[in-house]
Amino acid sequence: MKKSILFVCLGNICRSPAAEGIFRAMVGRTGREAEFVIDSAGTYAGHDGELPDPRMRRAAAARGYDLSSRSRPVRSSDFDRFDMIIAMDDANYEKLHRLAPSVEAAAKIHRMAEFCRRTRATHIPDPYYEGNEGFEHVLDLLEDGCRELLREIE
Ligand code: 4NP
Repeated sequence: MKKSILFVCLGNICRSPAAEGIFRAMVGRTGREAEFVIDSAGTYAGHDGELPDPRMRRAAAARGYDLSSRSRPVRSSDFDRFDMIIAMDDANYEKLHRLAPSVEAAAKIHRMAEFCRRTRATHIPDPYYEGNEGFEHVLDLLEDGCRELLREIE
C-alpha cells in the first residue's frame, strides 16, 4: 500500500508546498515515487488555487526544487486519505486537531519539528512577513526534517 503524507501550514503557499517539493525530491532520488502520495494544504483558504509565493519558489529553485503545486484548504476527507498529516507550527497543529473527525484521525497529526535533527527547531516559522533569510531558514529546517521523516518511514 502507498504511504501518504500531507504537509500543512496556514496559507499553503510558503512552508507546506516547500515541504512537499523537498520531500518529493528526496523520495525521487530513491526512485520510489510510485510508493508515495505526497501533497500539501493550508488551514486558511485565502490563497486557494495560487502557486507558491514567488519568494519561496525562487529560494527553493536555487536549491533545485521546483514548487508548482496549487494552494488548497485542508478537507475532512484528508484525514481518510493520508497516513500522516504534518503541521508546520503549533497553530496549524491545534487547528488540525479541531478539524480531526475522530481520535484515530487525530493520531495522524504530527509536528514537522519532531523530525528536525540537526536544527533542533520547535516549529517551522512563518516566513511570509520575513526577508530572504526567513525563506532560507525554512528551507534549512525542512531539508533536515524531510530527510529524517523519510528515514523513519523507511
Ligand atoms: P504559509 O505562509 O502558511 O507558510 O503558506 C503564509 C502564507 C500566507 C499568509 C500567512 C502565512 N497570509 O496571511 O496570507
